Amino acid sequence: MSVQLLPPIGMLAELTHRCPLQCPYCSNPLELLKANRELDTSTWIELFNEAADLGVLQVHLSGGEPTLRRDLEQLIAALAGRGVYTNLITAGIGIAEGRIEALADAGLDHLQLSFQGARAETTDLIGNMRGSHEKKLDTARRARAAGLPLTINAPVHRLNIEQVPEFIDMALGLGAERLEIANVQYAGWAIANRNALMPDRDAVLRQMDIVEAARERLVGIMNIDFVPPDYFATYPKPCMGGWARDAFMVTPDGTVLPCHAAQTIPSLTFERFPERGLAEIWVDSPAFNAFRGTDWMLEPCRTCDRREIDWGGCRCQAMAIAGNASATDPACVLSPLHGRMAALVEEAIATAGPSDARSPEALIWRRIGGAPTAEGHETRQG
Ligand code: SF4
Ligand code: FES
Repeated sequence: MSVQLLPPIGMLAELTHRCPLQCPYCSNPLELLKANRELDTSTWIELFNEAADLGVLQVHLSGGEPTLRRDLEQLIAALAGRGVYTNLITAGIGIAEGRIEALADAGLDHLQLSFQGARAETTDLIGNMRGSHEKKLDTARRARAAGLPLTINAPVHRLNIEQVPEFIDMALGLGAERLEIANVQYAGWAIANRNALMPDRDAVLRQMDIVEAARERLVGIMNIDFVPPDYFATYPKPCMGGWARDAFMVTPDGTVLPCHAAQTIPSLTFERFPERGLAEIWVDSPAFNAFRGTDWMLEPCRTCDRREIDWGGCRCQAMAIAGNASATDPACVLSPLHGRMAALVEEAIATAGPSDARSPEALIWRRIGGAPTAEGHETRQG
């Protein structure tokens, strides 16, 4: 059955791939773009205007580290001028004195700040920058002082999964309205580091219980969003809410994608703004139409009652694990390849030992121009 094409509501704008941190779970592609490939200010503003014309209501400004763009205030002001809600997704490092206030003055609506750990030693280790935890705490305090609503984002994996209770306390102490505990999605750099990052099942179950209890305790005080790990799921998540259904993203060079890992599907070709307008890409791009609705589905999705609930799961995960982007996401218990997810977990645990291991020598650090090969760990000065 075809599904009616509606305008997109949300857009993720990856303004840059530059970042002071080197998180090994980063969702950016392994081929990171250098600064000279980034869209300039006026092209981003043109793109934002087309997005607003198309119906986009919220823009998430991300990266890399979006505050490395010196024109961020201008970009936010352009979006605010069109009545678009803006959320800044930042690592919170190196933001100059007075800049958070300037971003708020420009019209920023919300700030989302990531912490690699709830302890300084963990944040500094996973982002590979000494002193980064303290800088993030300072950013959180400045954001609250500037009157910005704050979400703390805690990407969780083997090296920090036992810190979930501390993440909750930290977010409360910082006055966050929302805490997002998101188990790492194995795409981008995370798939290259899957063995080192994969938690064990017991750790995941403990974490789910802790989050559930905290949610009940903190009703009306702080919302906790929880993104469970696909590898331990019964049914998949509706990735991006369904392929090209109500959101899209744009890479630093203006390539328009249905999701952050779409370029890992070799059969698809993606178009760039401004060579083609956003509305045309949204409606006509063969890549956007490839997995829209349900017509493309194979069995068991094709006749499944959940096909308009999860939209067959994640196309990029089907590509990565089943080798076919049209296949049922192997995270689904009904997929003939579901057992492969459990086998990959077992393989990871056998390779890297139990969760919360403290010796991440095998990590591949995210960096522009860096070949994805394992290196020794070396903490930089912040
Ligand atoms: Fe979802 Fe497909 Fe699994 Fe049904 S078979 S639950 S539609 S992924
Ligand atoms: Fe591409 Fe899920 S990341 S569809």
